[in-house]
Amino acid sequence: MGKDVIVACDFASAEQTLAFLDKFTGRKPFVKIGMELFYAEGPEIVRQIKARGHRIFLDLKLHDIPNTVKKAMAVLSKLDVDITNLHAAGTTAMMQAALEGLTRPDGTRPLLIAVTQLTSTDQQSMERDLLIREPIDQVVMHYAETAKNAGLDGVVCSPLEAGKVHEACGASFLTVTPGVRFADGDVGDQKRVMTPAQAKAIGSDYIVVGRPITAAADPVAAYERCVAEFVD
Ligand code: C5P
Repeated sequence: MGKDVIVACDFASAEQTLAFLDKFTGRKPFVKIGMELFYAEGPEIVRQIKARGHRIFLDLKLHDIPNTVKKAMAVLSKLDVDITNLHAAGTTAMMQAALEGLTRPDGTRPLLIAVTQLTSTDQQSMERDLLIREPIDQVVMHYAETAKNAGLDGVVCSPLEAGKVHEACGASFLTVTPGVRFADGDVGDQKRVMTPAQAKAIGSDYIVVGRPITAAADPVAAYERCVAEFVD
C-alpha cells in the first residue's frame, strides 16, 4: 500500500455515513471506522462499506489480556478490513497474540498498527496517572520500537513524530497520522497539527483526516485537495 488519505468517518449512524460516502462518485476514499460507528451499527457497517469498494481502517484500539485480544482479532480478521489497531501499552505478549489471532488460515491478515501514547495524554497526566516519568517523546519512541519488535506493521502517531519513528524503526514501518489541517482551516481541538503537504514532507505514510473533509461545505473538493497535497 502506498501513501493515501484516510477519511475519518466519525458519524453516529450508518445512514449518515453512507449518505456522506454517496457524495464520492469517482474515487473510493480509504475510510476509518471508529468506536462510535462500530458500536452503534456493529460489523454490518464494515461489510456494507467494504462491499462499496472502500478500503477500511478499523480503529477500535484493543487493549486487554493476550487471550482475549487474540480471540477478538480472530473475529475482526473475518471482516476483511485493511488496517486495524491496538494499544502498545498492552505489552509485547498482547501484540504477538493479536497478530496470531488476526492471521487467517491462508496466512493473510490485515495490517496491524499500535497506538503509542494517545495525543490527549500529556507529560503531566502520564507522570501523575500512569507513573511514567520519562519524557513523552522517548516513551512514544520506545512504544513504537516495542511494536516493531513484536512484529507489528506500524504506529498511529502525530505527523510531528513520523520522521523520528521512521529513523528508529525503518522506512517501511508505517506511520498513520491524524492531526492534519489545511493551512487556512480551523484547528478545532487538535493541538499539534500539520498540513497534508507538511505531513508528506516529513514522511507520513497515511494521513487520517476527519472534520476538514466531513464538515467541509464541499467534502469531495476537500478530499481532492488533501490527495493533491499529500499523494499526487
Ligand atoms: O476531525 P479530525 O481530523 O480531528 O479527526 C481525526 C481522527 O483521528 C479522529 O477520528 C480521531 O479520533 C483520530 N485520532 C486523533 N488523534 C489520535 C488518534 C486518533 O485525532 N492520537
